[in-house]
Amino acid sequence: MKFRKEIIIILLVLVSLYSCNKSDDRLAVSSNNSDNKNALIESKVEDLLSKMTLEEKIGQMNQYNGFWDLTGPAPSEGAGAKKYEHLRKGYVGSMLNVRGVEDVMAVQKIAVEETRLGIPLIIGFDVIHGYETLSPIPLAESASWDLEAIKKSAEVAAEEAAAAGINWTFAPMVDISRDARWGRVMEGAGEDPFLGSRIAEARIKGFQGEDLSDPKTIAACAKHFAGYGFAEAGRDYNTVDVGTSTLYNTILPPFEASTRIGVRTFMNSFNELNGIPATGNKFLQRDILKDKWNFDGFVVSDWGSITEMIAHGHAKDGKQAAEMAANAGSDMDMESYLYVEELAGLVKEGKVDEKLITDAARRILRVKFELGLFDDPYKYCDLDREKATLGKQEFHDAVLDVAQKSIVLLKNENNLLPLKKGNQKIAVIGALANDKTSPLGSWRIAAEDETAVSVLEGLKQYNGNEIVYAKGADVSTGETVFAKELTINTKDKSGFAEAKSIAKTADVVIMVLGEHGFQTGEARSRTEIDLPGVQQELLEEVYSVNKNIVLVLNNGRPLALPWADEHVPAIVEAWQLGTQSGNAIAKVLYGDYNPSGKLPMSFPRNVGQVPIYYNYKSTGRPNEPAPGEVFWSHYTDQSNTPLYPFGHGLSYSKFEYSDLSVQANNVEKTVTVSFNLKNDSKLKGKEVAQLYIQDLFASVTRPVRELKGFELVELEPGEEKRIEFALTEEELGFYDNEGNYTMEPGEFKVYVGGSSITVLEDKFDLQWEISQ
Ligand code: NOJ
Repeated sequence: MKFRKEIIIILLVLVSLYSCNKSDDRLAVSSNNSDNKNALIESKVEDLLSKMTLEEKIGQMNQYNGFWDLTGPAPSEGAGAKKYEHLRKGYVGSMLNVRGVEDVMAVQKIAVEETRLGIPLIIGFDVIHGYETLSPIPLAESASWDLEAIKKSAEVAAEEAAAAGINWTFAPMVDISRDARWGRVMEGAGEDPFLGSRIAEARIKGFQGEDLSDPKTIAACAKHFAGYGFAEAGRDYNTVDVGTSTLYNTILPPFEASTRIGVRTFMNSFNELNGIPATGNKFLQRDILKDKWNFDGFVVSDWGSITEMIAHGHAKDGKQAAEMAANAGSDMDMESYLYVEELAGLVKEGKVDEKLITDAARRILRVKFELGLFDDPYKYCDLDREKATLGKQEFHDAVLDVAQKSIVLLKNENNLLPLKKGNQKIAVIGALANDKTSPLGSWRIAAEDETAVSVLEGLKQYNGNEIVYAKGADVSTGETVFAKELTINTKDKSGFAEAKSIAKTADVVIMVLGEHGFQTGEARSRTEIDLPGVQQELLEEVYSVNKNIVLVLNNGRPLALPWADEHVPAIVEAWQLGTQSGNAIAKVLYGDYNPSGKLPMSFPRNVGQVPIYYNYKSTGRPNEPAPGEVFWSHYTDQSNTPLYPFGHGLSYSKFEYSDLSVQANNVEKTVTVSFNLKNDSKLKGKEVAQLYIQDLFASVTRPVRELKGFELVELEPGEEKRIEFALTEEELGFYDNEGNYTMEPGEFKVYVGGSSITVLEDKFDLQWEISQ
């Protein structure tokens, strides 16, 4: 069988080589069978490489920013001025931040029609949570734990972006982070590597589809490789210092999962790892990614990260930085302009092996072939398609669906929610309630301001209740470096009186408070993670006249809100939910969608607890000792537990867990965990049932709990289902400090429930060895 397959591949290669030489469409690929297609692509890549000069290969490794939007520091005067000249010479392989069919067409035409070999550009863009029609920010979407909805949201993003000329997104960000101060937590899937891996897979499948040459799909990019989410003290771009066990067991798994699902590109990161910047890190990019994981796509640097190795104190100048990055396996230079300037010289001096240049160009060309760019370089450049696709109603329906699923009900005392429909006076308070821009969140370059449905607009669609609104106070935009911030007086309390007066006579007060959409994201770290400006004071003042408050939070990171938790009866985590934000929030508040979201990150009681995460290690002094004993691992002024744990989220239904059974089958090498889940209420609802394990004693210590399974279960009122999970060595093992996956026989605990603070627990004894 194998032999026959090889013969077919050889024949195909010969046929394709023949047709390459012969016709005008020498670079086109057309076959449906994926093995044949891969062989064809490989042969065409090799054929093309054989015709390229060293400079043209290096050209493929060069990526320039477009001419308008900047998503990194502005290049110095004159740098990049050679863009057009280089484009015409075939010294540019990719551009980012060129968008819209007309503009993409303009640069693509130069690459295809004016360069010697006519190699099309790959066009990259940060399609992080949509293009023009926006889904919730990724952290919010992760709170849905709904992999189908997350995949659908990436599909929508891909289709819309592809119609606007883009064929490569710099997403998903698969960095695990435990630090709410870090502004980029909004862009990831939270603190857990298991959940993070499943979400990474869903997003990649959504972006890339089944076949990258489908014009509705785009190439995805797993970023930032690696460790970026562990920036010290949550300050963006800061030094990272993690141990090997954390690297292998927490940071790398979502990246490895991304390669397994077939992600086509990686982006490296700004941070260093063990003193070596990730961009110049051979251990990460060659040893692990390309050798151990067999990744055959390409790695793009982050914005200017090759040059930044000088500031890191690793490379002494641009030339050495280019040498280090290329040797370490960074295939494409984003905005450092160093490959195009330095690599040819470095090859001639023998400092960079030409084979590495050819390998990088091969990887880049491979992805371009897979995208079908050689079949039709303008396949993403159809003006009619762009017009018909952007903002389609079905996209709005899809982003509304995932937005409602992303909302997390944190607290609901006395069933204040859902709101009654009719004969209610509702006071709506907070600048964010009337904001049509902030819900779009960070990373929304292609979406116009004021295009989100505000909470107020969403609520007003529900007739029957009287709605009155007062701003109360402004929210900081977080754009402290831009003049915009200066026009907003975030200390102004002059709106408090009006807010209190409408609250006084209301049946229910909905307060929409939190962060502005630009207060999280890249370069937007905070040292305080409470309500910015005077919003906390506003909340307390309003509470003094009416305690019936529903606090709707808009934020891009976990916030520490102990006062609200203690006093406010209902709290709804509504993040930044994208274009359909207000509609999604209104549906949840009125009970037209029964909330089902669960937190993907722990919410601390105060910033001093950060980093705080559920899968911590047991210390030598873990348990609260006898009263008066001080020598145990704790704070003297705050408890060790979070305000809201990972996995927490309520519903208007009530779920009961019972009858846990754990069966270890040491012959079949599976542990079967099953339990009953009952909807003990009169409302249909959904619950994310969660399964955690603890490997009690191991050669490398294991966390007190590790998520190893979850299922989103929908239950009719009164319905009960038996839920079953099978644990295999995929879930039961861990990485040792050499990075080898291992599993150790012995005692394990199993925990089951609706959050990481689980309700059922059992044990099993694992008696088999890992298969080699
Ligand atoms: C810098 C960011 O770190 C990265 O995630 C992004 O994709 C690039 N800029 C391009 O905008």
